Amino acid sequence: MKKQKSQRSTSMKYKNAADFLAFIGMSAIVLSVVYITTPKTADPLTIVLFILLIIPTIIALVSGAPFVPTPMHIGKKMLELGKIKHGEKVVDIGCGDGRLVYMAANEFGAKAIGYELSPVVYAIAKIRQLLWRSKAKIKFGDFRMHNLSDVDCIVTYMLPDTLKKFIPKFERELKSGSRIISYAFNIGDWKPIHIEPSSAEENRSKIFVYEIGKHAN
Ligand SMILES: C[S@@+](CC[C@H](N)C(=O)[O-])C[C@H]1O[C@@H](n2cnc3c(N)ncnc32)[C@H](O)[C@@H]1O
Repeated sequence: MKKQKSQRSTSMKYKNAADFLAFIGMSAIVLSVVYITTPKTADPLTIVLFILLIIPTIIALVSGAPFVPTPMHIGKKMLELGKIKHGEKVVDIGCGDGRLVYMAANEFGAKAIGYELSPVVYAIAKIRQLLWRSKAKIKFGDFRMHNLSDVDCIVTYMLPDTLKKFIPKFERELKSGSRIISYAFNIGDWKPIHIEPSSAEENRSKIFVYEIGKHAN
């Protein structure tokens, strides 16, 4: 009992430390953007901050997934197609401004996590989190550095060539029965369990639904 209590308080401490670091990181990003965009002659600090901010953004662009948010009504449709149950772990592997992650947590009761590679977009997501008052987590960095073995549902909006590169990781780590909901683009030659047709009325493209275990062609 005592041991459990001390384990719980240790994990609380780590959680608070992670939140604190995320807050510091976000503040540093916002201050850097403000500093860079303030009119003045470029000094070495401006150049260093600009490079630090722009590198991950370029990586995101080169990796084939620039920041283009999914309209909210389409995000909701994706989460419905994912048949997300209360308490399930939902991950957006490139979460942009966090909209799908916040919706998954607030409206579907999911334990939602979003990863975002671009610092500026990450900062926008953290600001949006305050507006949504969401308990979802947004983590700065490349989702490929994180293990996906306890994830129940992935939502994604990335280009097909990018998605194709993730197949080995998905097949290695995702458990049988977990779902991937991909907006607009298919995942390599995987077999979807469902394709939601595009709709001119709703102004949306197709939505591909995959389930690990039933995805092989
Ligand atoms: C097309 S946007 C989609 C944003 C969000 N999922 C949505 O539907 O509104 C893709 C985002 O993924 C991010 N991204 C690309 N590769 C990533 C990676 N390996 N890890 C984390 N984020 C990544 C990009 O910076 C970009 O913001």
